[in-house]
Amino acid sequence: MRVAMIGTGYVGLVSGACFSEFGVEVVCFDKNGGKIADLRQGKMPIYETGLDELVARNVQAGRLSFSTDLAAAVKGADAVFIAVGTPSRRGDGHADLSYVYAAAREVAAALTGYAVIVTKSTVPVGTGREVERIVREARPDADFDVVSNPEFLREGSAIGDFMRPDRVVIGAETERARELMRRLYRPLYLIETPIIFTTLETAELIKYAANTFLATKITFINEIADLCEKVGADVQDVAKGIGLDGRIGRKFLHAGPGYGGSCFPKDTLALVRTAEAVGSPIRIVETVVAVNERRKKAMAARVVAACGGSVKGATIAVLGLTFKPNTDDMRDSPSLEIVPALQKAGARVRAYDPEGMKEAKALLPGVDWGKDAYDALADADAGVIVTEWNQFRALDLARLRQVMKRPVLVDLRNIYRPDEMAAAGIAYHSIGRPPADAK
Ligand SMILES: NC(=O)c1ccc[n+]([C@@H]2O[C@H](COP(=O)([O-])OP(=O)(O)OC[C@H]3O[C@@H](n4cnc5c(N)ncnc54)[C@H](O)[C@@H]3O)[C@@H](O)[C@H]2O)c1
Repeated sequence: MRVAMIGTGYVGLVSGACFSEFGVEVVCFDKNGGKIADLRQGKMPIYETGLDELVARNVQAGRLSFSTDLAAAVKGADAVFIAVGTPSRRGDGHADLSYVYAAAREVAAALTGYAVIVTKSTVPVGTGREVERIVREARPDADFDVVSNPEFLREGSAIGDFMRPDRVVIGAETERARELMRRLYRPLYLIETPIIFTTLETAELIKYAANTFLATKITFINEIADLCEKVGADVQDVAKGIGLDGRIGRKFLHAGPGYGGSCFPKDTLALVRTAEAVGSPIRIVETVVAVNERRKKAMAARVVAACGGSVKGATIAVLGLTFKPNTDDMRDSPSLEIVPALQKAGARVRAYDPEGMKEAKALLPGVDWGKDAYDALADADAGVIVTEWNQFRALDLARLRQVMKRPVLVDLRNIYRPDEMAAAGIAYHSIGRPPADAK
């Protein structure tokens, strides 16, 4: 089988490489020539664990290649995946579909024989039908079906998620398209992955319903954390106590600084807009969006409070900048709210992130950059853990106390225990948990 992947970003590159690992011949196309040139030299444009080896192995085997020639990539392909970005449209929060529609027009011109055109990008209900219309209008002679195949991989564990997903969702409306998709996902079928066949609209909505549900769960536990702080309860115990209930589940019950990343913020907002537009508003998601925005903005105030009410002239060390560990993705990261707010309050910020600093440097002016966690913490009046990278989970607390001006740590990810911090003589502030002496 042959696949053309249009868009070689976090999703397109991982999906393309994983399909090639399944034995499919894949050509990844991107209009960003620099990305393709790097990939041809074996340089990964993103940080994702295991991706470089996976790509190298399949390039070596002749199953995976990279191209800036769309016609050559699409020629003879059984499936053409559209995996371009769908960011929030400036001004109104709807998903910006201009990249998807541009890709559809370009693919239409390049189609040779029968192919399925598959939207892997997260797209609002109705997009698949519009892609179909665009291609039909551009190429009335073309033989094709449009399929919706939303992607559920998580950055940081993307390869494992793609190879062993909880489920695969396929919105397809002809038997020919369903059969082709079945063949493509055959290796997953063999490991008994549930494959759900639906209409285009249903598949498109499943993706938004999944992401907004998870964002709601996070926001719920964040608000419970705030309540815990008022009443002296411990949010981690509450999360455990409710998460062990099989109907609730333990995942996505970690209180923190508010969700960020390349998906939840834009997808929650896009679903709100879709629902409003069709006169069926989803109030719960509207509230989630508002609460999360407020939360991200409120995080800097916690640091200021931990510093005694002012950070003017203080040095604050920020550990972790990416929206979650094991990625270099900075999109909508809480750090993008927290760092400028601290600077505005008069602090000097010194930051360190294991993989995100290259991206972050362009987004966070005026920050000093540490070589590692201890370098960032040197002489700092307070440290803030924004992202729970593994290397921040086992800091040498004696060394931390030694290098910092004041041993104050604001842990926005609850990766330490208040009692161990108290024992180490560190003034420790976490989310939704009582300080050690109050327990
Ligand atoms: N990042 C994730 O974890 C994730 C997970 C699931 C779904 N998604 C969805 O997948 C889609 C892609 O997300 P991403 O994070 O991979 O985005 P990305 O920005 O990393 O990659 C998009 C790529 O598409 C390219 N592109 C844009 N227009 C093009 C065109 N006309 N032809 C060829 N290439 C083009 C860009 O140059 C870029 O390299 C989005 O809809 C997103 O919501 C993302």
